[in-house]
Amino acid sequence: RLDNRVKIVEVGPRDGLQNEKNIVPLVTKIELIERLAKTGLETIEAGSFVAPKWVPQMANSSEILSHILATPPTSPHPLTYSFLAPNMKGLSNAFSILNQNPGTFSTETNPLPSKPSLEIAVFASATETFSQKNLNASIAASLEGFRAVISAAKETPYNLRVRGYISVVLGCPFEGYDVSPHRVAEIATELLEMGVDEIALGDTTGMGTAPRTKDLLNCLRSAGIRNEDVAMHFHDTYGQALVNTAVALEHGIRTFDASVSGLGGCPYSPGATGNVATEDVVYFMESLGMDTGVNLDGVADVGDWISKELGRGNGSTVGRAVLGQ
Ligand code: HMG
Ligand code: MG
Repeated sequence: RLDNRVKIVEVGPRDGLQNEKNIVPLVTKIELIERLAKTGLETIEAGSFVAPKWVPQMANSSEILSHILATPPTSPHPLTYSFLAPNMKGLSNAFSILNQNPGTFSTETNPLPSKPSLEIAVFASATETFSQKNLNASIAASLEGFRAVISAAKETPYNLRVRGYISVVLGCPFEGYDVSPHRVAEIATELLEMGVDEIALGDTTGMGTAPRTKDLLNCLRSAGIRNEDVAMHFHDTYGQALVNTAVALEHGIRTFDASVSGLGGCPYSPGATGNVATEDVVYFMESLGMDTGVNLDGVADVGDWISKELGRGNGSTVGRAVLGQ
C-alpha cells in the first residue's frame, strides 16, 4: 500500500440505516449497496447479525448476504462486504447463509478476484456503561464471548476476515469524557491477540476533538499497536470528524470509516448523529493528494439518491456542493 493510498470503509448500509425509524425496504438496501459498489469503494459494511428485537432495522441482513453471494454487485474491483456479528448466534446465522451458497465467496486463505470477500465485525466498548447498554454485558464478558466468535470465523471453510470495533473511545454518552486511552489500548491489544485483523476505533457520539484524538493514537502507539492495524470510525455530531480525520491521517492511519450522505447514528447512543460523510472524506483526501479510489461524483449521486429515498436532507456538505444544491 502506497503512503498516499487511503481506504474508506463505507458503513452507510449498516451504521447509516440501523437507526432509521421507518423500516427501509430490502430492495432499497440492496440498491444502495449495488450503487455504492460501482463507486470504487473497497469495503462496504452491509448489515448486522444482531438480535432483531434490539435493532429491528437490521433484521433482513441474511437476505442481504444471500443476495450479495447469489448476485454479486458489479464493481470496478473485488469488494469486501462486512457484517456485524457480536455472538455465536449472529455468526451461525451468517454461516447458514454461507453454507447455502458454497463457493460463492473468497476467503482470507483463498482470495478469488472474481468473488466477494467477507468480513465479520465484533464490537467492544471502552466504558462499562456503554458495554451494558449496547451488549448487555460487561467489557470482560463481551471480550470472552468474542474470543469464540473470532476463532469460529477464522475456521475452515469460512476463514473470514474479522474486524474488532471499540466504541466510545473518545467520549461516552453515559460516562462523559472519562474514557481512558490506556483502557482502549488494553482492549485493542486483547482483540488483536484474539486474532482480529483490524481494530476500528469508534467515536460513537462524535465527542472526539483533535487533541483527544492525538492523545489516544499516541497511547496506542506506545502500547505497540501498529497504524496499519487501526481504522478510525468518526461520527460527526459536533462537526469535528474531518478535523479528527486530519489528525489521524497525520499520525499515519490510512483506513477511515464513512457513511454516504452522513447517514446514521447508534441506537444506544442518544443524540449521536451519523458518521462523517463519505463524500466529505473523499473530497478532503483528494485535496491532500491522497488516493481513495472512490469516484466523488459517483458517491455524491448515491448520497443524493438515498437521501431522497429516506425522505431526509443530504447530510454531506461536499455532496450538496458537488450537486449544486
Ligand atoms: P441479549 O439480550 O443479552 O442476549 O443480547 P440473549 O442471548 O439473552 O438473547 C436475547 C434474544 O435475542 C434471544 O431471543 C436470542 O435468541 C436473540 P428470544 O429467546 O428472546 O426470542 N439473539 C439474537 N437473534 C439474532 N441474532 C443474534 C442474536 N443474539 C441474541 N446475534 C446481544 C445480546 C449482543 C445479541 C444484543 O445485546 C444485541 O443484539 N445488541 C445489539 C447491539 C447493536 O446492534 N448495537 C448497534 C451496533 S454497534 C454500533 O453501532 C457502534 C459502531 O458503529 C461503532 C461506533 O460507532 O462506536 C459499531
Ligand atoms: Mg458507529
